[in-house]
Amino acid sequence: MLNLILFGPPGAGKGTQSTKLIEKFGLTHLSTGEILRNEITEKTPIGIEASKYIDHGILVPDDTVIALITARLVQNGNINGYVFDGFPRNISQAIALDKLLARFDHSLTLLVALEVEYSELISRLLLRSKNEGRTDDASAVVEKRLKLYREVTEPVMCYYKNKNKFISVDGLGEQDEIFAKIVAAIEKYRL
Ligand code: AP5
Ligand code: MG
Repeated sequence: MLNLILFGPPGAGKGTQSTKLIEKFGLTHLSTGEILRNEITEKTPIGIEASKYIDHGILVPDDTVIALITARLVQNGNINGYVFDGFPRNISQAIALDKLLARFDHSLTLLVALEVEYSELISRLLLRSKNEGRTDDASAVVEKRLKLYREVTEPVMCYYKNKNKFISVDGLGEQDEIFAKIVAAIEKYRL
């Protein structure tokens, strides 16, 4: 099994690169952001509650996102593995993920961090806000998301560094070049 966390700040390219990874390795993509946005579109009680947080650039409560991930692991049972995108987002979620994987006799293979400088993140997200109109890409909300990433989410990298399950990849440049670097780094790690 290959269980990856694709990690990085808002706009780092987690969603973009996850799509390529699931295709190459036959994995299942679990993006808490996408799952929550689908709940919002379908106007479910979870979605209505989650939008109060997402529209302000703050994290949805841990219990909600952990329950959403748990339900998908129970349903799916993909024997090849998973790409976790946007989850875990804080240390409590990281601990919960480890426990959850252990419950299914799995474990995390590796966290892959995409490194992208602040100014590039801002310009990618503002461009996407013009093209796609994601509600949380408004400039004030983007700044809040980036601040929260530094304060609450970034420490998750140390958690996995301490377990020797961490690599980082330069996330600047062409998407296919970045993907090739990610694949090379994963394969090197697994040797
Ligand atoms: P989430 O959906 O996870 O958003 P995010 O982490 O803020 O990241 P993005 O989806 O904006 O960026 P990305 O890294 O996926 O980059 P992408 O590939 O799209 O979370 C949204 C919200 O949901 C959170 O704020 C929170 O409220 C809630 N939430 C989600 N998970 C949660 C959790 N676990 N706990 C609690 N709350 C949670 O790329 C960005 C743009 O750049 C795209 O337009 C893309 O086309 C472009 N791009 C990609 N690669 C390149 C490149 N190489 N060069 C130029 N442009 C590029
Ligand atoms: Mg994304």
